[in-house]
Amino acid sequence: MRIAIGADHGGFELKEELTAFLKKQGHTVLDVGAYNDRPSDYPDFALAVAGKIGENEAVRGILVCGSGVGACIAANKIPGIRASVSHDTFSAHQGVEDDAMNVLCLGARIIGPRLAEEVVAAFINARFSKAQRHRKRLRKVQDIEDSY
Ligand code: RB5
Repeated sequence: MRIAIGADHGGFELKEELTAFLKKQGHTVLDVGAYNDRPSDYPDFALAVAGKIGENEAVRGILVCGSGVGACIAANKIPGIRASVSHDTFSAHQGVEDDAMNVLCLGARIIGPRLAEEVVAAFINARFSKAQRHRKRLRKVQDIEDSY
């Protein structure tokens, strides 16, 4: 799978670890930065990851900041992005299966690298169920986006 990944300074180190993990699993990883741990702004990386998805260069995105929250808020401002913070494997796969989540946001000050790898794997290996009830709800979410 083609996966875009980005992080601010708070998430830089975990991003590096997750990038190596994903490559080892055979995925193509588009790293949009940051490329060091100097202070940077999470909205820049949310925009860059969303851009890769919007341009169909990536199917999924991963954002890492200190808590995951700032990056998630920024990512959800971008049309077509359905981002969520998830630090557990259940919501990481169910968020995709039921809600078509396409960006996973992680907080590097909350989660350790080994659990983060399991959460990322649950997210990446999950597929939207396409069940009618979930399609209907997704349509309603889309309608909200379209109305603004
Ligand atoms: C940066 O210090 C921190 O605020 C940021 O990484 C993130 O946690 C925001 O949600």
